[in-house]
Amino acid sequence: MTYDVARLRSLVPALAAGTVFLDGPGGTQTPLPVADAMRAVLLAPLSNRGSATASARNAEAVVQGFRRAVGDLFGTTDHAVVTGRSATQLAFDLARTIAADWAPGEEVVVSTLDHDSNVRPWVLAAAAAGAVVRRVDPDPETTEIPVERIAAQLSGRTRLLAITGASNLVGTRPDLPAAAALARSHGAQVWVDGVHLAAHAPVHLGELDVDFLVCSPYKLMGPHCGVLIARPEALEPLRPAKLAPSTDAVPERFELGTLPYELLAGTTAAIDLLASLAPAQEGEDRRSRLARAMSAVEEHEDGLRRILERGLAGLPGVRVHSRAARRTPTLLLTVEGCDPQQLVAGLAEHDVVASAGTFYAAEGARALGLPVGGGLRFGLAPYNDRSDVDRALTALGAVLGA
Ligand SMILES: Cc1ncc(COP(=O)(O)O)c(C=O)c1O
Repeated sequence: MTYDVARLRSLVPALAAGTVFLDGPGGTQTPLPVADAMRAVLLAPLSNRGSATASARNAEAVVQGFRRAVGDLFGTTDHAVVTGRSATQLAFDLARTIAADWAPGEEVVVSTLDHDSNVRPWVLAAAAAGAVVRRVDPDPETTEIPVERIAAQLSGRTRLLAITGASNLVGTRPDLPAAAALARSHGAQVWVDGVHLAAHAPVHLGELDVDFLVCSPYKLMGPHCGVLIARPEALEPLRPAKLAPSTDAVPERFELGTLPYELLAGTTAAIDLLASLAPAQEGEDRRSRLARAMSAVEEHEDGLRRILERGLAGLPGVRVHSRAARRTPTLLLTVEGCDPQQLVAGLAEHDVVASAGTFYAAEGARALGLPVGGGLRFGLAPYNDRSDVDRALTALGAVLGA
């Protein structure tokens, strides 16, 4: 399939000035159709959700359209979609609510390679319940989260396995189906941090036996909000803190206050834009088009990642830490004797945006044996092209004096 990266780039105003953005894992640049959709919602008649007036119907349509779009992105019509301020906020709120019926001595299993938003909420919720936290460290040689290490922490006492779909630090993609099946075999629930994965690969919840998955639209060219998609049966028994007059229905029970309609419309527009990355096929629905489009994104980014890796291998003193067999196009590197923050500053002088640190995965960085300051991260997004990769390599070479 031809992947029309030039068309996508033409839709992203921030790229017009020629800056190379390799900081997608921290947040992507926003395409025009996404900004336009948010503006349109704000400027159209808009009231609280309802059916009596056009303005109320507009709000209702935005919410329903958003829930359908997120379902399509994750290949499902059966799951409930909850909106939130961020993936972090959703994890904190839901962890507290889920753990309310955990008993002292019961257990939750977390992965230390995860972003802290999939560790701390469970640590605090477990502490409140008197439950025990069991940690799975990544293998420092391979940067993998081996299924055997997960298996070793699971038991009949495990209530939930919290695991990432992909690491935002080094790009590792654990074997989610195997991890989920293992947790299930112990009667545990599964919570997936899909924030990094959902931006780089198709995720089919119909085929993945997990209860909860969070993602952040601003990592996939959408606006700054968070989304939880969950099995309705997993949400139904939960009793979150809520206002007395607000509905008890799922998913609204978990959505506090008036919804940010413009962000929901922007998220729908981002998902529509992702779908448009696969050429239209007669009679095809958005769900299957999205599956093809996300496979095309994955292939495009994977090709660029290989070129980037080959180029990095030729630069003096550069060590790439991203080594997992399955990984996203997110490369963490260190350079002997160089502060990664100084590398970021040096690259900025060449109009290349990258980032440095441990990216809220400090426990994982320690487990991998990384320096305290972490590393330099190059992360590719759907709008990056070959010239971005070449310019980043040339710029890093110049900064290193190669
Ligand atoms: C893998 C991963 N999980 C969670 C988060 C937190 O997302 P949010 O900013 O929506 O809370 C991030 C943000 O960088 C991330 O990369």
